[in-house]
Amino acid sequence: AWGVFTDNTHRLEIDLARTSPTAWTVRAAGGAIDQYVIAGPAMRDVVRRYTALTGRIPMPPRWTLGYHQSRWGYSPSARVEEIAREFRTRRIPADGIWLDIQHMRGFRSFTWEPTNFPDPAGLVRRLNAQGFKLTVIADPGIKQDTAWDVYNSGVTEDVFHRHPDGALAIGAAWPGASAFPDFTLAPGRAWWSRHVGTLAALGVRGVWLDVNEPTTFPEGGGGATLPDTVRAHGEGVTTTLAEVHNVYAMGETRATWEGLRERSPERRPFVLTRAGYAGVQRYAAMWTGDAPSTWWSLRQSLPMLLGMGVSGLAFVGSDVGGYSGRATPELFARWMALGVISPFFRGHVTQGVNDQEPWAFGQEVEDLSRAFLQERYRLIPYLYSLFDEARRTGAPILRPLVYEFQGEAAVAATDDEAMLGPWLLAAPVLTEGATRRQVTLPAGRWYEYSSGAVYEGPTTIDLEVTRAALPLYVREGAILPRDRSP
Ligand code: GLC
Repeated sequence: AWGVFTDNTHRLEIDLARTSPTAWTVRAAGGAIDQYVIAGPAMRDVVRRYTALTGRIPMPPRWTLGYHQSRWGYSPSARVEEIAREFRTRRIPADGIWLDIQHMRGFRSFTWEPTNFPDPAGLVRRLNAQGFKLTVIADPGIKQDTAWDVYNSGVTEDVFHRHPDGALAIGAAWPGASAFPDFTLAPGRAWWSRHVGTLAALGVRGVWLDVNEPTTFPEGGGGATLPDTVRAHGEGVTTTLAEVHNVYAMGETRATWEGLRERSPERRPFVLTRAGYAGVQRYAAMWTGDAPSTWWSLRQSLPMLLGMGVSGLAFVGSDVGGYSGRATPELFARWMALGVISPFFRGHVTQGVNDQEPWAFGQEVEDLSRAFLQERYRLIPYLYSLFDEARRTGAPILRPLVYEFQGEAAVAATDDEAMLGPWLLAAPVLTEGATRRQVTLPAGRWYEYSSGAVYEGPTTIDLEVTRAALPLYVREGAILPRDRSP
């Protein structure tokens, strides 16, 4: 194995053997092409060296390894508390609860809508009393509103992107016409960190960074992002978004991480991001974005997580149940099982569709979800060790089979199974109506996780799968630390 890292922040076009089966083509719209060729021979060597170059994940807070419940958007705050209470009365384990944009005053980042969220500190306190930590969203588009101190301070401190003629670069975002902080200069990052600090001061434990490509809405006039011609500070060497658009989220995640760190030095920061650049793993976990609630999308989520894992992004997950909503009970249950083995495990769904909490699909799915979540919590000591390994070496937490069994032809291209660390093979069921599933086991002896049944690999087994199935196999020689009673 070997790796290629093209470190160029301009618009890139990468053709992996599409035009010609024997050629990879990388085209950059500008700038120098800094290309690293990373030696193996093992995949783990490539990942270790690549992450030595671009950075590794910091140790996350332990609670972030548990289950997170999100949706767009729980409101008012009594509803948020009610969701938390449901988890406890139904004895479904969970640690995190999330606020999407609905808690803000007119989608202004760092604000609280006074009628529905009159007492954020009280909300945090009451959630904490139930054992829940609160994460809230912050979007980069800052509403152009001269009656708002956050916007005004950004103008006064000159932290927003501007056009070459000096006018503010305004784009349409959730709050309407918005200015965008320039994260390519220390004062812009410090300004953002300060506002993140106000969230931490209320007891908010995590910050969720969304639409940070950065997105603008074409419906509002303009493009899907700010124009390339917009000026940027470029760490002191004035440039344009043509060069730094792709690192927008990188600076934002850094400023967020630092803001949390400064305000609460005794806590490990937790940031989730939608966009990023090589190295963003130093500051944030990442999710796969607005995946539709379809079987195709569930099936694609696993290879996506695997690809992210071998790209240095160890802390990754997908919206459990799918984002677009109206998941069938079967799809939701299968996605829950995928969540158990995902480094980041969060249920999330859009607005205006059916509820998607674990109890929203009837008793059977609620019971299955509880059992899946209990299994997740049992595995947390093992997962915690894997996070530490990722922190030290860059090793993905969820890995493709080829990462552990390089050279075994039978598993070279397997992308519907995965290794959770070096010791657990997982074969989640990802197809609709499945009653059987083939599982390929690489060389060596394997123990079926719950029954202890022994299999000698390499072999392929044909398994009967119920809706409760999460086929897991323990590799010989494993020491698997588990929590007995979550
Ligand atoms: C984006 C996010 C999604 C969020 C929505 C509203 O689409 O990807 O997760 O719910 O914005 O903030």
